[in-house]
Amino acid sequence: MTKNVWIKHATLATLRSDQKGPRSKEAMSDIGLIEDGSLWIEDGIIQAVGTTDELEKTYGQKEADVIDASSRLVTPGLVDPHTHVVFGGTREKEFEMRLEGASYMDIMNAGGGIHATARMTREATEEELIEQTSRRLDSFLTHGVTTVEGKSGYGMNWETELKQLRVMRALQERHPVDIVPTFMGAHAVPPEFKGREDDFVNVIIDEMLPAVAKEKLAEFNDVFCEKDVFTPEQSKRILEAGKKYGLIPKIHADEIVSYGGAELAAEVGAISAEHLLKASDEGIKAMEKAGTIACLLPATALYLREEAAQGRQMVDSGVAVAISTDCNPGSSPTTSMPLVMNLACISMRMTPAEALTAATYNAACAINREDTIGSIEPGKQADLVLWNVKSYQELQYLFGVNHVQSVWKKGVQVVGNP
Ligand code: NIG
Ligand code: FE
Repeated sequence: MTKNVWIKHATLATLRSDQKGPRSKEAMSDIGLIEDGSLWIEDGIIQAVGTTDELEKTYGQKEADVIDASSRLVTPGLVDPHTHVVFGGTREKEFEMRLEGASYMDIMNAGGGIHATARMTREATEEELIEQTSRRLDSFLTHGVTTVEGKSGYGMNWETELKQLRVMRALQERHPVDIVPTFMGAHAVPPEFKGREDDFVNVIIDEMLPAVAKEKLAEFNDVFCEKDVFTPEQSKRILEAGKKYGLIPKIHADEIVSYGGAELAAEVGAISAEHLLKASDEGIKAMEKAGTIACLLPATALYLREEAAQGRQMVDSGVAVAISTDCNPGSSPTTSMPLVMNLACISMRMTPAEALTAATYNAACAINREDTIGSIEPGKQADLVLWNVKSYQELQYLFGVNHVQSVWKKGVQVVGNP
């Protein structure tokens, strides 16, 4: 049994709301602030939230670890709803090549990019991947991230796809950060299927999806719907097939060119569409109507030196926006959600409050976890961050700096001095 924890005198951004489901428009600005706020945790679950005076009355005489958070911000643990965190090797040479003028897709079409990581991931043992991924999760945790989504997709053969998903499962036992697994067999067409793309789509549908479902290794099914990768028609077939196994669709959509990905996300009932740098106005409208969450990745846009997605316009037009690192070895090798929040403000003109909603509650919605994480409310998991800043505005304003002081996962302090 874990000890009771009492956090007092915090500037508390609770993100609580009576409204259910992903937030858009003005609802993204309401972060449920409580000045001189306080919360009580028992057995890893938040029991009470209010002002310090209010909680003093009920809990003042009880035994607990007391944390004095005077003049500092406390938020829910950050949620990263889109990562490719399980991979072998690194690609720093490609980084140099891109700075010299090569494009991301040129490198990939020449057998580098995702294919290079697939070779290194195929070669790595399960133990090696567990070890490397565990270090990345440590880094997420020190940046205030307590839950990540993780995708397969560096195998593109069933053995390696299952290996990646099993690594995520094994890490559930070994690491405090929760990983929510997504199958992404359709991340690229492997070289052995070049010119026979539809055959590879059939392999995904007839062999990989049943194997993933049999071992219950994933909750979501993602596709890289992009010119020269998977067409909207192929993507649709894969996502519809996944639905038959209960896998919820997600789509890497309109990242490099406008390709109807946002429209497809709305059509197949995807929980979220990712990237959306080149999403059409019609696509954004369709997402708003369908209630599809836009999962925006401004660190990827920066790293590829592209214009970021239209975050401001999407929020204003009623699309619920989540943000994510896209942590991967090619287009966004970072674990810093605080940096992503900074970039949501700087590159996409989202406000500091909207960026926080996008990295907590809406991010939890994008991975179907809003009932247990993403806000500080009684009954929810005590995943929390104490930041060494006095306000949420300061958190977004002092950019590129790690302000994390302490992190609690399920009520247990995992970062900072107890
Ligand atoms: O989300 N765009 C496709 N997939 C990843 C990149 C993966 C890689 O380059 O290794 C992304 O950016
Ligand atoms: Fe991605």
